[in-house]
Amino acid sequence: MRLIQHKAEAWWFYRVVSKVYDRWVNPLFWTPRMRDEALELARLDAPGLRVLDAGAGTGFTTEGIVARVPAGQVVMVDQSPHQLARARRKPALAACEVREGDAEDLPFGDDAFDRYVSAGSIEYWPDPQRGIAEAYRVVREGGTALVVGPVRPAQALARRLADTWMLFPSEEEYRAWFAAAGFADVEVRRLAPDWYDEASGAAYGVAVAGRKPAPGPSPLGLAPPAERLGEPMGLRRRLLFAGRFAVGSLAGLAFVPVALLQTLRARRAR
Ligand SMILES: C[S@@+](CC[C@H](N)C(=O)[O-])C[C@H]1O[C@@H](n2cnc3c(N)ncnc32)[C@H](O)[C@@H]1O
Repeated sequence: MRLIQHKAEAWWFYRVVSKVYDRWVNPLFWTPRMRDEALELARLDAPGLRVLDAGAGTGFTTEGIVARVPAGQVVMVDQSPHQLARARRKPALAACEVREGDAEDLPFGDDAFDRYVSAGSIEYWPDPQRGIAEAYRVVREGGTALVVGPVRPAQALARRLADTWMLFPSEEEYRAWFAAAGFADVEVRRLAPDWYDEASGAAYGVAVAGRKPAPGPSPLGLAPPAERLGEPMGLRRRLLFAGRFAVGSLAGLAFVPVALLQTLRARRAR
């Protein structure tokens, strides 16, 4: 069902969630240690790098980027003005360029960046393959793109809620999207917060990075994005939107304690 994996639904979701995002979401699910482990794959260690953070939100990942690259060389893009408004209040990000925009249709020319980073956003993109092909297009030849995202939960109830909420791909899907977009040397690293039971063998999330081997757009020919923010909604679409937003948000809300409890229970049993 993946009810919030749509642009208008995700926009409204973050209209609400942005109010609590920094306080309640990142400290539990996307921690500074996970961010450091993921950003290692982005190779932010060369001088003069120009970096794009797509789906930058309130700037938690961007704060990790600007610890490695001067903020004036970092561009943040997100489709949510509410998330970006919070990023704009952070002194460490004051020198970053901040733009509203769609990760599936980036407002930049080909080969414009040395590095592309996107953390925790792919799960909302209606066409993730298109988003990864856009990552390929905007990175220069030899540059690196890094995408961080969740993995389909192993536990049945958490999986059902996750599938109702948004996209939780398999590791194989991430690899296939990178390969199809044209990336070479694709690397995958598993990530998990401290409370997660890694002994179960099931992945929590992954960081996936690839190198762009040739200049220009992705060899994958792409149709225009299937959804655009702000396009007029007829009555049917409005009703669909309202249903998806209500049920999808509830599933997202329920997912958090269920996933947490299941994990802690599995850990105790072990
Ligand atoms: C879970 S937050 C992650 C924010 C940030 N990257 C971080 O590390 O905290 C997901 C972000 O993706 C953004 N987003 C979702 N779909 C998007 C799209 N199609 N284009 C750009 N941003 C998008 C949301 O607005 C939200 O700010």
